[in-house]
Amino acid sequence: MTTRRKLIAGNWKMNGLKADGLALAKGVAEVLAAGPAPACDMLVCPPTTLVALVADAVAGSKLAVGGQDCHAKTSGAHTGDTSAAALADLGCGYAIVGHSERRTDHAETDAVVKAKATAAQAAGLVAIVCIGETLAQRDAGQTLEVNRRQLRGSLPDAATPENTVIAYEPVWAIGTGRVATPAQAQEVHAAIRAELAAILGAGPAARLRILYGGSMKPDNARELLALPDVDGGLIGGAALKVADFWAIAQSA
Ligand code: PGA
Repeated sequence: MTTRRKLIAGNWKMNGLKADGLALAKGVAEVLAAGPAPACDMLVCPPTTLVALVADAVAGSKLAVGGQDCHAKTSGAHTGDTSAAALADLGCGYAIVGHSERRTDHAETDAVVKAKATAAQAAGLVAIVCIGETLAQRDAGQTLEVNRRQLRGSLPDAATPENTVIAYEPVWAIGTGRVATPAQAQEVHAAIRAELAAILGAGPAARLRILYGGSMKPDNARELLALPDVDGGLIGGAALKVADFWAIAQSA
């Protein structure tokens, strides 16, 4: 049986100014250092404005830092954007790409997400590629089809278990308090892994981590993280409190 080390990732979204971001990152790094060490990797993805501050504050700790997005190009005339190389330069090890909020707010297509993930990998970052169906798509019975299509369209050609993580985030569960049931999550995660096996081969698919995201909280994390194909969480709201984020990591 393949063992995949779980990843507990905090997506802070557009939250936090210098003081609270620093306190949150330091708080997580401190509980992580104090132990007992959780059996998972831990990551925080602050807003771009705080990445440098957070990366410096947690340097040398076991807490990894990531960006919430990156541009597909390495440099150039792209006002307001951030390159993957710039994130790596600040100390990031990961970049989230294709979050549903970016797909919606910035009209990011699968092709755009794939280009961003490819850029992230080229800069040495692990790309966390987000996919997930809307409520209308679920109600129309299109859940598996939508996730397979997004996966095929967004996955970089050079994806490996080392440079790619998939995050399944049903859009209807994000920030709503309405979490997927364990059966719903496992069904989609298993379908994603089967699709990964068809694309990458069974060996790599068995090692590639698939996170669940969408209203994961301390009180539902244990059940979700115990599912055979759930390899961690991408956590929004509950990642903004040290105690909640830590409690989720401990259930991993
Ligand atoms: P949530 O967000 O945990 O607040 O639902 C998850 C995400 O969007 O990554």
